[in-house]
Amino acid sequence: MRPMLRAVPFGAVLLVAVSLNVVRYAAAAQPEPQAESPSLALSPKLRGALIAEMAGLKDGIAEIVTALGVGDWGKAAARAERVRDAYIMKQKLSTEELHQLERALPAEFLELDERFHHHADALAQAARRKDAELAAFYLSRVTEGCMNCHAKYATHSLKGFAAASPRPAGH
Ligand code: HEC
Repeated sequence: MRPMLRAVPFGAVLLVAVSLNVVRYAAAAQPEPQAESPSLALSPKLRGALIAEMAGLKDGIAEIVTALGVGDWGKAAARAERVRDAYIMKQKLSTEELHQLERALPAEFLELDERFHHHADALAQAARRKDAELAAFYLSRVTEGCMNCHAKYATHSLKGFAAASPRPAGH
């Protein structure tokens, strides 16, 4: 009865696979755990300030791509300058909150942030000079800056960077 013997393990494998999926979907349906960063211990207010800055970056980068694409150098440069100058520290924060921020942000975060702002500046300058090739180069460095920081400090909210979590097979 070879076909039967083969069918049993196959069925068992299928069952395990199906139940794993059920567990996975049940877990996915749970509300997100308290959304506090595992790497950045920020108070709700500071985290709100960071997320507000991120929303600005998201719009900024989209506008820069469009402006560069259509050769609107002035707009691309102005927008890149705004990205360059957008620091969470520049938002309306009290002295105490600024101290909290200093304590909460690790040196590596600040380095990634600084490199990011430096590349945004270089992008703005390239756009001002209407240097398409250099602008495209720095656009990619700026984008890389988003990705590098997120891969390190935002894996809790940007799931695409949660490299440590198992990749669901077949999805
Ligand atoms: C130096 C670090 C750093 C850089 C650079 C950075 N981000 Fe972020 N970003 C974060 C962190 C940390 C979070 C997670 C915040 C949280 O949820 O606690 C985040 C979250 C976000 C989010 C999700 C916000 C939400 O609503 O939950 C967006 C969108 C985002 N970033 C866009 C960008 C874009 C676009 C760029 C580049 C143009 C960028 N970020 C560059 C650190 C960075």
